[in-house]
Amino acid sequence: MTVLITGGAGFIGSTVATACREAGLATVVLDDLSTGARAFTSGGAFYEGDAADGALIDRIVAEHPDIDVVIHCAAKIVVPESVEQPLDYYENNVGKGIDLLGHLRRHGIERVVFSSSASIYRASDDFTVDERSPIEPLSPYAATKAMFEAILRDAALAGQVRAISLRYFNPIGADPQLRTGLQLAEPSHALGRLIRLHAEGAPFTITGVDWPTRDGTGIRDYIHVWDLARAHVAAVRRFDAVTASEGPAAVINLGTGEGVTVRELVAAFERVVGEPVATVDLPPRPGDSAGVYTRSERARELLDWEAELDLERGIRDALAWRERLLAGALSPR
Ligand SMILES: NC(=O)c1ccc[n+]([C@@H]2O[C@H](COP(=O)([O-])OP(=O)(O)OC[C@H]3O[C@@H](n4cnc5c(N)ncnc54)[C@H](O)[C@@H]3O)[C@@H](O)[C@H]2O)c1
Repeated sequence: MTVLITGGAGFIGSTVATACREAGLATVVLDDLSTGARAFTSGGAFYEGDAADGALIDRIVAEHPDIDVVIHCAAKIVVPESVEQPLDYYENNVGKGIDLLGHLRRHGIERVVFSSSASIYRASDDFTVDERSPIEPLSPYAATKAMFEAILRDAALAGQVRAISLRYFNPIGADPQLRTGLQLAEPSHALGRLIRLHAEGAPFTITGVDWPTRDGTGIRDYIHVWDLARAHVAAVRRFDAVTASEGPAAVINLGTGEGVTVRELVAAFERVVGEPVATVDLPPRPGDSAGVYTRSERARELLDWEAELDLERGIRDALAWRERLLAGALSPR
């Protein structure tokens, strides 16, 4: 079985590619390297280019006629940038996705696993969501994910594609063997800021301390990227069974099921680094929300998958990967 992974040179796609290969699946990566890293592409076949490029897809399929499933990770993913440049986001994440589906269809490739996001959910009173919870994307980025899911659903109902949309919660960590990780040394999510400010000896700013959560800070569902990657392997292996039981456009939440507040994240970080971390309370930033975590059992039931690596492991792997990154892990060899 051969898997085509768009965006396979990115943080999540590259880790998915490694997990696929470890599970005995051949991989072909297609990535335009707009944010992806060439250093992540050495483990299997790699094509540099656009996921919407029909001639390139023709060449890939001619050279790998055994591709029978596509994991579509390629996307622009920066929320504030999507607010400033919505047309670029809709074009890349929706328009090019439609082009890709058309090219796959020409070649009779109908199985698509899609990187969706928990950011599409409307916040709920108890901060939990499952796959039937209301959808209310609050940014153009999140809207592109909800929209592409809807497109997959309509195309699936018309028999043009079969799809499993995986709604990721908050991916953290790195490949446990440190082959891949975040390309950015300074990511803007809470753990990324915590790591950077700790390295600089600066206090960590907690933005939002009056949410109706147990300690007033935002709540998230931090999922180790290796667990996420393993779930893709399960989705590929069980693709036909899942779409047979769920219908041709299945949707599955991928989280730990455990809500972690920002103060709890800081406490876990302190345990990992073995020293206290100073914090400063600030008001929420525009667009911030209290957050959500999954209450769904669907991943366990359909994929026989559950998260295995805990928050502290995710923090440790993120710290170890950052060391590697700063030591030149992405430099040309
Ligand atoms: N990181 C998160 O917190 C998170 C959460 C939920 C969902 N997701 C989804 O997971 C997927 C991967 O995200 P990531 O964190 O690895 O981001 P990333 O930026 O590291 O990876 C995206 C990859 O796609 C490539 N790419 C973008 N547009 C392309 C195009 N038109 N053609 C070919 N390649 C293209 C980039 O070069 C990059 O390698 C995305 O679809 C994202 O929306 C990410």
